[in-house]
This record gives sequence, C-alpha cells and structure tokens, in this order.
Amino acid sequence: MCGIVGYTGAKSAIELLLDSLEMLEHRGYDSVGIGCVEDNKGMVGIQKCVGRVHDLRKECEKQPMHSTCGIGHTRWATHGGVYTKNAHPHQCGKVTLVHNGIVENYRELTEDYELQGKLRSETDTEVVAALLDRYYQGDAEEAIKRVVQKLKGTFALVMMFEEEPGTIYAIRNVSPIVAAECERGMMLASDLTALGNFTKKYFVVPEYCVLKMTKDKMVITNLDGEGVEPQMQVLDWKVSGLGKEGYPFYMEKEIMEQPNVFAETIKRRIFKGMPDFSADGLSDDVLMSCKRICIVACGTAMHVGLITQALVKSILHMHIDVELASEFMYSDPVLDKDTLVIAVSQSGETVDTLEAFKYAKKCGATCLSVLNVRGSSISRVSDYVLYTEAGPEIAVASTKAYTTQLAVMYLMVAKMAFLRGALSEEETKAYIQELQNVPSKMEEILDRKKEIHVIAKEVLESKDLFMIGRGMDYSILLEGSLKLKEVSYIHSEAYASGELKHGPIALITEHTPVVALVTQGRIMSKELSNIKEVKARGANVVLFIKEKLATQLKEDYNVVTLPDLEDKFMVFPAIVALQLLAYYVSSDKGFDVDKPRNLAKVVTVE
Ligand code: F6R
Repeated sequence: MCGIVGYTGAKSAIELLLDSLEMLEHRGYDSVGIGCVEDNKGMVGIQKCVGRVHDLRKECEKQPMHSTCGIGHTRWATHGGVYTKNAHPHQCGKVTLVHNGIVENYRELTEDYELQGKLRSETDTEVVAALLDRYYQGDAEEAIKRVVQKLKGTFALVMMFEEEPGTIYAIRNVSPIVAAECERGMMLASDLTALGNFTKKYFVVPEYCVLKMTKDKMVITNLDGEGVEPQMQVLDWKVSGLGKEGYPFYMEKEIMEQPNVFAETIKRRIFKGMPDFSADGLSDDVLMSCKRICIVACGTAMHVGLITQALVKSILHMHIDVELASEFMYSDPVLDKDTLVIAVSQSGETVDTLEAFKYAKKCGATCLSVLNVRGSSISRVSDYVLYTEAGPEIAVASTKAYTTQLAVMYLMVAKMAFLRGALSEEETKAYIQELQNVPSKMEEILDRKKEIHVIAKEVLESKDLFMIGRGMDYSILLEGSLKLKEVSYIHSEAYASGELKHGPIALITEHTPVVALVTQGRIMSKELSNIKEVKARGANVVLFIKEKLATQLKEDYNVVTLPDLEDKFMVFPAIVALQLLAYYVSSDKGFDVDKPRNLAKVVTVE
C-alpha cells in the first residue's frame, strides 16, 4: 500500500506533488507528507500530518516554500500507529526517504547496526533511512546498493541525499515504481494514476535496479553497475478527469455504472452470438488443454472465483480450486503444466495475488489474469490477460469490478463448455443470450433503489447481522456481507444456511437481523426451511428473492424481489441489491462511504 510520488524539473514541485498524492489516496489515507529541496538553500524541508492530502495542503499554505524537486507519500499504516512522527518522509542525517512495502528484518537491522539512538518513529522505514545514512560516504548509488542487499521483504524506496539537490533515487523489490519524462520534468510514482495527467509514455523501474533521476535525465543501473535500458510502455487508459457526476459518493456512481460497463465488457467478446476471445489473443488451445483450473485472488475478487467455481462445476464438471492468494504459497498447492491458474484482480497490484501468480508460473502452470487496470504488475507476469471494461474504480469498496470480472468469467466458461462439448452451439447461444440480458435486469433493480433504501433502515442500527443462503446464494452473500461490513462497520457474517443449526443459530435472538437470499429454484424449499428456523427464534428477516419464486412470501417477511434471470445468472441482480443495501446503510450513518476506515484501495503489502 502507500502512495509514492517524486518530481524534479524546472516547475514548482509542491502543488504537483500534492495533486499527484491526491490521486494516490486509494493506496492509503492515514497520513501524508512531502519532502522538498528548498530552492537556493539546498536543504530538504519536510511537511507531514495525520489525515488526508487536503489537510497537508492547508499546512503547506501556512509555510510557503519554493522548490523544484521533492518526494511525497500517502500512508497506510503497517509498522507504527497513525501519528505524524510515523508519517513519511523520514529523514536521517543527509537522507530523506519514502517507502512502500514492509522491511521484515527491521528489528535485526536495528540491533545489528545499533541504530536505536537514531530512530524517532516506530516504522520499519526509518531503519532504512538510518542505514543509508550510515553507508553514505558521498556516493548515493553505492550506499543504496549496499543497503538494499541487507533488506528482507518488499519495498519501493524513493530517496534524496542532501549533497545532491535536484536528484531523486529509487529502487524496488516487488512493490512497483513507474517513471516518466514529462513536459514539466521527470516524475515517478507508485502507480500510473499519478502520472496519467502528465504523460502517456512511461516505464516500470526494473527490480533491484537504481533509478537516478535528475532534472533533465534518468539513468538506470543494475547492482553490478551496468546500464539498463528502460522498456517504454504506453498508457492507453483514462486515469484522470473523473468526477462523481452529481452522485454524493463514487460508490453510488460506480454501482449505477454497472449495466453499461458490464455490456462493454461482454460486447467485444461476442461474435455471432458465440463467445470469442480472439481479440484478447487467447487461443482455444489454452482453454482446451488444461486439466484443472485454480483461481487465486483476494477479497471481492476471490468471491468472483467462488461464483466461477460453482459455474465450472455445474457446466464443465471440471476440477477447480479457489484459493485465497495470501494462503496460496504456504498451502503447498499442487500445480503443473496442465493447470490453468487464473488471477483475478481489479488493481492488478495486490501483492498476495502477484506473488501467488509468480509462484504458479515457476511451477510451470499457464497463467491467465482477469484485470481492470492496464499495465499493472500482474499483467506483466501473465501469459494471457483479459481486461474488464469497468473503467477506473475509485471507491474503496469494489462493485463494478466484481460484476465485470464475473462477466469475463461467464464468457470464459461458455467458451470452454462449447470447446469441450459440454454445451452445444445452440445451448451456448442461449447462455450468451441470457448474459446479454443481464444489463437490463441490473437496470431494473437500480431503478428500484429507493425501495432498497427503505429496507436498509431495517438493519441500520444493528451491531451484528447474519446473511444466509445456500449454494450460489451463499457465495453471493459472502460478497454482500463483505460490502456491508467494510462500508457500514456492522459485523456481518455470511453463513451457509444449512450450517446454522450446527452452531451459530445460538446467536439468533429476538430481532437479530438476518438477510436471506433465495435465487436458486432447485434448493428453494430447503432455503425457506432454514429461514423459517431463524424466524421461529425471533429474527427480523429481510428476504431478497427472485421474483418468480416470491409468490406467497410477501406477507411473511420484508421482501425485496429480484428481476428474473435464469438461476445461474441471478448473481447479477442480487449483488446489485446487496451493494445498494451496504451503500445506503453507510451513507445514512454519515460515514465516508468511499474511504472506509483502515482500508486502502490497492493492497501492496503481504
Ligand atoms: C472489497 C475490496 C477488496 C479487494 C481486494 C483485492 O470491496 O475491494 O476485497 O477486492 O483487496 O483487490 P484487487 O481486486 O485489486 O486485487
């Protein structure tokens, strides 16, 4: 996590750094800071505070300074609490430094090099600054090279040395740094979002190479001192100029965008009514030859994996695992060249997913990713990439990324099913037709959002809540429950309803709120029995149910009916309804819906 930016050039640095940091707040918003070389003095001045970029802007206005070279950081706290002293940049002697990642051996380094007396913060980062200062004898590159070889963990380090005003150094392991020569000068950042306003051409700093950035040039050298040519890339994605378009929060805007971005995602992958990935460069052979599938992802993206798993099992009858990326490498996964490993990620930067994917690649698996952000770290290690057309997702809680990732997965399953003879051409076309009906059904539920706002009042005051369902409904609720807990801070547990009586039903008392989901005809009667069991114990049940199945239930519960689609496709209207539920609970409570506490949009620490 953490956003990093650096600038050196002829223009004023401070506004540019602050504007860029604002675009990086999705990486963390606990505290923020900049370090700038004061023109004519050559000293590095630091401004930092707990809070957001707009807070720092006010601080900077109080003490104006002129600078054309500086670095900045927006923090998601790992080591050390959310205090100004722990905000970056950290300064030690002649070194000023910002860092993204975790230096795992910071304690050992502190002891081995007796740095304790030099440290003023609780961070792992300051240890690196102190170590650099220890090794710096007038040659910054030499000091950097010596220090990084001692570090364990992931890091992106951006540094300035007092004796070289106007020069910025950077080095990284896993955590990304992109850099570009722009009209205004030289820039680097932890992700492209911060560069998109200034340039379309950029390069990724190669791992364990030192980038030296001066006002008119950039030079990269590896640890042996050999020059390295940057591999220029073109940014073909809109990253700026995004507004809320009249919505109070991005989350609502992004929920409302789903019919359009879903349609966009499937449109270019359907040809003559059949799924077609030729424009993505994904050959039939890849989908035909694998013997098993393994999906690695985190959070919402992992929930996409669970729905895909249900689909693959029921249509393809194929072996498929869904693994939490953070657990993957440590669970001794069985992988070989016949395994298709699919990474699902909105940002393409989630370090757990990235590392799991790299591990899979090493084991010889074919690596395909389903991503939203172009040019991200995961895209660079993928054999094949399928991009969603969600567009930039700004709200921390993922909504449109989930439905567009599923759109890709539904198409992929259709393609595999046809290629492998599990669906005939006619059946495949019918399936694709139903997928094309999804946007209008999402529209239908969005048109009734006021109804969901009213229902949201039923759970507004609760501290704990259950969400219950079976089969695919259970998987949908895992996502619905995650949405509710992250934006409303209500403790919400999704449970497979058949499991309740094996323990958790003990928690159901008079008025306990229970959100139940019923969209799967074949298990409806069993689901309803489980709902009756909690109702009999006094639970206040809010029932989300497929319209066709709802006929006699409207009197017994608070009911939200969901537009009819074939059961396998009900995830789409159902999740839109649950996203709206979470959104309204959070906004009615007066929370900052787009930036829930403790979270960050891009998760780049393990
Ligand atoms: C929840 C949410 C997270 C992400 C997870 C993975 O609303 O957004 O659970 O889904 O952190 O992120 P990506 O998809 O960027 O890999």
